[in-house]
Amino acid sequence: MKNIVVLVSGGGTNLQALIDAQGRGEIKNGYISTVISSNPNAYALERAEKNGINTLIIRRRDYDSFDSYDSALTELLQSVGADVVVLAGFMTILGKKVIKAFENRIINIHPALIPSFCGEGYYGLKVHEEALKKGVKVTGATAHFVNEICDGGPIIIQKAVEVKNGDTPEILQKRVMEQAEWKILPKAVALFCEDKIKVIGNKTEIIE
Ligand code: GAR
Repeated sequence: MKNIVVLVSGGGTNLQALIDAQGRGEIKNGYISTVISSNPNAYALERAEKNGINTLIIRRRDYDSFDSYDSALTELLQSVGADVVVLAGFMTILGKKVIKAFENRIINIHPALIPSFCGEGYYGLKVHEEALKKGVKVTGATAHFVNEICDGGPIIIQKAVEVKNGDTPEILQKRVMEQAEWKILPKAVALFCEDKIKVIGNKTEIIE
């Protein structure tokens, strides 16, 4: 069984989707052992506690330098024995050390179809604001591995979602979460735990 550690910063609806998928038996070879938050007030922590999952806090501002924060996060993940790290709305950029220590073992959910509306500065509602500004008719979500390029790692699963007349960033965000994020993130984690994701260069192949 693979040890799944989930990093969060906010509401934690993607964490909830993982917990629910686990409850339905959809994550066959893994279990969520720990939730780590960058924000002590994140509602995601309550979701974890309600489900008997161990919680920890790590705040960027408690470290003098980005480098020492990067080392501390790496050590924390190693100390809890993480096999796979899931970024479920984690709003702090990861450093080189942690990315190297968990190469092709960190999965992020991004609320757009990468390579659209991604990269530095594209997070949360901002992604949907930009999609609406551009006038795209289709957006979606992407589950991908994390490498040193922001939102540039190998793509695991994508799912498209329709943009509708009158959408606001909030309405679109909710539709993307419901129709895409909450489905593809647990699926990507389940595939990883069953060793069904083969990474070839900067691409992946799903082993059926
Ligand atoms: C989600 O929409 C997630 O895709 C996004 O933040 C939200 C977190 O919601 N992540 C990013 O924008 C990362 N670049 P949640 O806390 O309810 O899961």
